Amino acid sequence: MALISYDDTNAAAFAAGRELGWDGLHRWRYAVQQHLRPRAGSTLLDVGAGTGTWAGAFTEWYDIRVLAVEPAAAMRDRCPHRPLLAGDATALPLTTSSVDGAWLSTMIHHVADLDAMARELRRVLRPGAPVLIRSPFPGRHQRITLFHWFPEAVRVLATYPGLARVRAAFARAGFPVSTVEPVAQTTAGSLAEYAERMDRRAHTPLQLITDDEYAAGMARLRAAAGTGHGPVVDHLDLLVLR
Ligand SMILES: C[S@@+](CC[C@H](N)C(=O)[O-])C[C@H]1O[C@@H](n2cnc3c(N)ncnc32)[C@H](O)[C@@H]1O
Repeated sequence: MALISYDDTNAAAFAAGRELGWDGLHRWRYAVQQHLRPRAGSTLLDVGAGTGTWAGAFTEWYDIRVLAVEPAAAMRDRCPHRPLLAGDATALPLTTSSVDGAWLSTMIHHVADLDAMARELRRVLRPGAPVLIRSPFPGRHQRITLFHWFPEAVRVLATYPGLARVRAAFARAGFPVSTVEPVAQTTAGSLAEYAERMDRRAHTPLQLITDDEYAAGMARLRAAAGTGHGPVVDHLDLLVLR
């Protein structure tokens, strides 16, 4: 059961407000490439692929096969990427040792049983293949804009699985080695664009703060947006496990 429901309303808000332009992701392109070492004919599994932003980008950037798996029908309905399968991180519809890497972007906080997910990824990945996790982690929110304007959302982030807990679950499943690095992305061309696109239904931490907290954050953000800032750059972590 995800922390929020990816129903039709939230999926539409995600598609409208959260999808990132590939142009702003070039640092992710090179960071992932360095760890994945994509080769012609290899398959990357995108777990919780959502509307397919990353699956599309990796296909285009690396010329590899990306297999998207997504449990929510409303997200699959908005995902143009193929192949796309219905499935959950803890019960993947894949055969053993069939993929060369796994990508999990801003989804691990929705998975209640991290051990089950890690074991399932161990089963489907070929030996030595990496798990690449893109996520905000508790205590590492300082360079994520959303938490600046909505500081109460840090309270929600504190309930997400921490780095140590994720590393331990993967180590138990047979991924003993890990590295972590913050990677920059351009989330919006300006603060005005960021404010314009902001919709709490597209952000789990904003759904789980109060209405008053959200309204106060939006008022702060809109006031600042009028004063003309440059691009909005965020740093989420890339955790790589092998
Ligand atoms: C914030 S969205 C991220 C979508 C996409 N990975 C991205 O970065 O654009 C989180 C996604 O995780 C999916 N999800 C939630 N629980 C999941 C689970 N147990 N297994 C796989 N995916 C899950 C949701 O349906 C949703 O599409």
